[in-house]
Parts: sequence; C-alpha cells; structure tokens
Amino acid sequence: MPSKLTDRTGVIFGVANKRSLAWSCAKALDAQGMRLCLTYATDRLGDGVRKLAEELNNPLVLRCDVTDPDEIDSVFVKIGDEFGHLDTVLHGVAFAKREELVGNFYHTTKDGYVLAHEVSAYSLTAVSRRALPLMEGREGTIVTLTYIGSERVVRNYNVMGIAKAALEASVRYLANDIGRHGHRVNAISAGPIRTLSASGVAGFSKILDHIEEHSPMRRNITGEEVGNTCLFLCSDMSRGITGSTIYVDSGYHIMGV
Ligand SMILES: NC(=O)c1ccc[n+]([C@@H]2O[C@H](COP(=O)([O-])OP(=O)(O)OC[C@H]3O[C@@H](n4cnc5c(N)ncnc54)[C@H](O)[C@@H]3O)[C@@H](O)[C@H]2O)c1
Repeated sequence: MPSKLTDRTGVIFGVANKRSLAWSCAKALDAQGMRLCLTYATDRLGDGVRKLAEELNNPLVLRCDVTDPDEIDSVFVKIGDEFGHLDTVLHGVAFAKREELVGNFYHTTKDGYVLAHEVSAYSLTAVSRRALPLMEGREGTIVTLTYIGSERVVRNYNVMGIAKAALEASVRYLANDIGRHGHRVNAISAGPIRTLSASGVAGFSKILDHIEEHSPMRRNITGEEVGNTCLFLCSDMSRGITGSTIYVDSGYHIMGV
C-alpha cells in the first residue's frame, strides 16, 4: 500500500469533467490525504469543475490556460500563498485541432503543429519550471499522461503522436535536470479511454474495440487504474523511478502480430 500523503500538496492540470484522467488522478491523490489545487482551462469549464471539486477535501480551484504564461505564474503564486510548498504536479493537458486528428498526417498545418506542441508538450516544461521553487527541500513528483501514438502509428492520431513523442522526451530531460534535487518525473502511457479529448480522434470507438480484441488482458483500462498508477508514482513506493514511461494499457504495448 502506498504511504498516506497527508502532509503533501499537489496541483492538477487538465480537469474538464468527471471523465478526465486528471480527475481520476485527483481522486486517487485526494483519497490518500493530499491537499490539491485543481485547474481548468476556460471559464466555460469553471462551474463544472468547481462542482466536481466538492467531492474532494477542500481543494483550491483555479483557472489556467497553459498557453498563457501569466495564468501559469498566477497559479503557482496562489499555491505558494495557500500551501507554502508543493510536492506533486499532475499534467493531464492536451489539445490538437479536430481537423488535424483525421486523414493524412502530412496535411498538418504549421499553426496546428505549433498549437498541439505548445499545449500538449511544452506546457509540461512550463509548469515544471514554476513548480520547482515550491518543491525545494522536498522530494517532488511530476507525472504526465501520454499515449502509444508517440512511438507507433495510430490512425488519425497524427500531430498528437508527434507532440506525445516530444512530451516523453521532455520527461527524460527534465528527469535528468531535477533528479539531483530529489525530484522525479514520469509519464503514464494510458490505453484508450472515452473522454472529451479522445472523442476528437476520428474512429476512436474502433481503437477501443481493437484493444478489447488484441491486448493481452482482452479489455480496456479504467480511469481508476490510471489514477492508482499516478498515486504510486507520487508516493514513496516509487522513490527509485524517474524518467520512465509506465504503461497502463492492459499490456497492449508488448504485442506484435
Ligand atoms: N483518453 C485517452 O484515451 C488517453 C489515452 C492516453 C493518454 N491520454 C492523455 O491524457 C491526458 C488527459 O486527457 P483526457 O483523455 O483525460 O481528456 P480531457 O479532455 O478530459 O482532458 C484534456 C484536458 O486538457 C485541457 N486543455 C486543453 N487545452 C488546454 C489549455 N490551453 N490550457 C489548459 N488546459 C487545456 C482540457 O481542458 C482538458 O481538461 C491528455 O494528455 C491525453 O492526451 C488520454
């Protein structure tokens, strides 16, 4: 069993609704006593996220569009004021234009390419840099969410696959930067789960069917399984693990033909 996280604090980026993987992670950390700050991307999502937050133990809830450096700064200032320190960052943010998640990858526009990378990959570095001063003297843990489309071709995943490859490489470089200070950063490569973002990938239902038929466990994963792996990666049970991509995908990543 992971140790209790009652003296720890964390910030969660990427809660849109109750299906969000970031929400599953938040629930798992909150259940072990971590004091959380939840962030949401736009005002449109605010009421829903505040309502969800009532299920947790008195979290801070803030808006943060990760493409706006001032909003990111403001989140960490408020966390500093409210919590005084920070132990954990959960990065569950990604975006690509819907029209770039269908058809040939070579149709990707420069704008679409840059936007997907800014939101889905660069934002990890942007939030990690701001988290570090608040992690000083603690053993900080950073976790991000990725997908096997970074390393294999998944039809229609397109520019998001390239952004996930950049995200996973960022995890390795960050791990080397921060490891000497006792901090760790890892990625969870989750199998497909029906969420708001996932519904933007053309043919997503077929991907779910494929996993049910071809993964070693012959089933899809749950958000709870992702949340529990996040809890493991943020607890002392995983103290020796950093720079890694951990697969929560019913074993699909091992399969060949
Ligand atoms: N659902 C899956 O099948 C699956 C599988 C593997 C990895 N992932 C990854 O999990 C993470 C969470 O996605 P999800 O499936 O829970 O979907 P989701 O739509 O619930 O979460 C994506 C989040 O990104 C946020 N976001 C988008 N643009 C933003 C911006 N500019 N600033 C701040 N936040 C922004 C959205 O508001 C949303 O909260 C993503 O990185 C996704 O790629 C998902």
